[in-house]
Amino acid sequence: MTSPDTVVPPALTLGIIGAGRIGRAIAVLARRAGLDVRVAASRPPEQLRADVEAAAPGASAVSVEDVARADIVVIAIPLGRHRQLPPEALAGALVVDAMNYWWELDGARPEFEDPTTSTSETVQAHLADARVVKAFGHVSAYALEELARAAGDPERLAMAIAGDDERDVAAVGALVDALGFDPLPAGTLAEGVRFEPGTELFGADADVAEARDMLERFWDSQRGRVVARARGLSPERGADGAG
Ligand SMILES: NC(=O)c1ccc[n+]([C@@H]2O[C@H](COP(=O)([O-])OP(=O)(O)OC[C@H]3O[C@@H](n4cnc5c(N)ncnc54)[C@H](OP(=O)(O)O)[C@@H]3O)[C@@H](O)[C@H]2O)c1
Repeated sequence: MTSPDTVVPPALTLGIIGAGRIGRAIAVLARRAGLDVRVAASRPPEQLRADVEAAAPGASAVSVEDVARADIVVIAIPLGRHRQLPPEALAGALVVDAMNYWWELDGARPEFEDPTTSTSETVQAHLADARVVKAFGHVSAYALEELARAAGDPERLAMAIAGDDERDVAAVGALVDALGFDPLPAGTLAEGVRFEPGTELFGADADVAEARDMLERFWDSQRGRVVARARGLSPERGADGAG
């Protein structure tokens, strides 16, 4: 249920970099929630405007630099292109990383499978002065388009949120809530590895209780054991505070 301190201020501006399936789906949900939505893509705004207006009426097409000035900036471009994002423009911004390593789209990129580093930590390393939070990536495009529900709806799905700053995680949680999903804080950016592609939660369309269990079970999975070993964590995790 939405509590007063998690309500997104109506004046909140949401920037979205990427106007593909995910960027457009988030823009639609955000307009439905009454947010001021600004979208950028690799095309210049003049070439993007008609698509944005058709997909999410009321949203505006702007440059990446203008999107970067929004209160929260969602990044929904192919992960393999994240180094094309301008770190200077995004310095200080609260950035939501919705990207996943998808080899069909990104090509073979072993660095995105490095068990010592979550892909969101790689994004944070590039956007060194931004505050990166991981969310949206484990929810399927179909779920974003069709399964958003009002707070309190028994069929509402969970969305895991990982980040290193509790206030930033809470701010993204309020956004997630306003867009129609139950926010589920899921540890640090490093622990975002627990809902990357190939994990149990990825694409699972789970409620909060189910999603929490899936996050816990990550450490018992083959990938979880590889990650724990590579990071020098105990196989039981928890003993060292992970999870
Ligand atoms: N599809 C899913 O079910 C799903 C679910 C969750 C997360 N994700 C992740 O979300 C990300 C986007 O997926 P998608 O399916 O929406 O991709 P997509 O349909 O291929 O759209 C990609 C968008 O990124 C834009 N773009 C590419 N390079 C850019 C750059 N350097 N600067 C600004 N914009 C740039 C493109 O601009 P143009 O329009 O101008 O070409 C396009 O609008 C991926 O990392 C994916 O793994 C996908």
